[in-house]
Amino acid sequence: MQSKDFIELEDKYGAHNYHPLPVVLSKGEGVYLWDVEGKKYYDFLSAYSAVNQGHCHPKIVDALVEQSKTLTLTSRAFFNDALGPYEKYITEYFGYDKVLPMNSGAEADETALKLCRRWGYDKKGIPENQAKVIVCEGNFHGRTITIISMSTDPDAYKGFGPYTPGFVTVPYNDLEALEKELQDPNVAGFLVEPIQGEAGVYVPDDGYLKKAYDLCKANNVLFIADEVQTGIARTGKLLACDHENVRPDILILGKALSGGVMPISAVLADDDIMLVIKPGEHGSTFGGNPLASKVAVAALEVVKEEKLAERAERLGELFRSELKKIDSGMIELVRGKGLLNAIVIKPTNGKEAWDVCLKMKENGLLAKPTHQHIIRFAPPLVITEEQILDAVDIIKKSLSEIENS
Ligand SMILES: Cc1ncc(COP(=O)(O)O)c(C=O)c1O
Repeated sequence: MQSKDFIELEDKYGAHNYHPLPVVLSKGEGVYLWDVEGKKYYDFLSAYSAVNQGHCHPKIVDALVEQSKTLTLTSRAFFNDALGPYEKYITEYFGYDKVLPMNSGAEADETALKLCRRWGYDKKGIPENQAKVIVCEGNFHGRTITIISMSTDPDAYKGFGPYTPGFVTVPYNDLEALEKELQDPNVAGFLVEPIQGEAGVYVPDDGYLKKAYDLCKANNVLFIADEVQTGIARTGKLLACDHENVRPDILILGKALSGGVMPISAVLADDDIMLVIKPGEHGSTFGGNPLASKVAVAALEVVKEEKLAERAERLGELFRSELKKIDSGMIELVRGKGLLNAIVIKPTNGKEAWDVCLKMKENGLLAKPTHQHIIRFAPPLVITEEQILDAVDIIKKSLSEIENS
């Protein structure tokens, strides 16, 4: 079967809830992907930052294979001998008292919202059913009904109501608006992405996170960081909040927690917050399973052993400075932090970001537009300096081919 046959199968038998680039992949290793015809590409999406450690990292795959031969799932009806050691490892790794293990990023966000609301009632004394959570315009936290109820993107929420109440929206990167809403005594939490990834890699002003954190503290409100996309070395520090020495009250992780081999997410908090949830009040059949526990430990070890945060910091600087040197009328703006970057495309000769992605694919690099005019560049963090320079040449060549077409 050829690429077009696989595309036809997905089109005929799969729901049409995605619009993929027309490339059918069958193999991955490190920063590279291969399609079914054997063509090799740089992966500059990393499965939306889930594959920070590179495709099929041998240490993570070994952990997966080994544990899968022994025990994969017990449910939380019983204890297992992998979960406790994982919980100890991840809480020490990120510096929290406790972890609540889940699977997808959206589930972890839902978990954080439940935790926050319950804390609001039990600890802050908010009257029943009155708790509010402040969120930001342009947010992306997943696709559940409650999460789309917080969204300001019509593609995400339109036609899926009625919506979950209890959310207040403020503009991103606007401390004044946040401070105003924080005056409401029924506010339990402020949920924020340290960099808005899906919105198009919007990096807030330096100092925003720290000041927002301080304002939350002054008003007895929980600061909740969704680091599903920004966390685990992507932006040049272990957490994007580390750039401003902010320690979130509730930390949400996903994606790269497994290095991309299976869905693993987690919520971290200290005892005074985490212990408001009691047995039977929250959970998931697969959350904290032994397979995920072993995989997550291996994935986090790789991040430290291979100094991926330092690499992301150093190579991110190089990448942005090389992108800025490209002499192309199609690049309106380059922005990002570490290896989470984006360019804003100025449509030229009737061609948009999508066409640039098609051209880059032709030339051996895979990336995807986010919204109409933005292309995110987020390669696996194991990429080398030489590969970054090679990739920049592909981007440059692709833009110039479009401009000269
Ligand atoms: C910041 C953020 N939160 C949550 C999610 C949702 O994660 P998942 O797709 O695993 O549910 C995403 C996915 O892109 C994300 O970027």
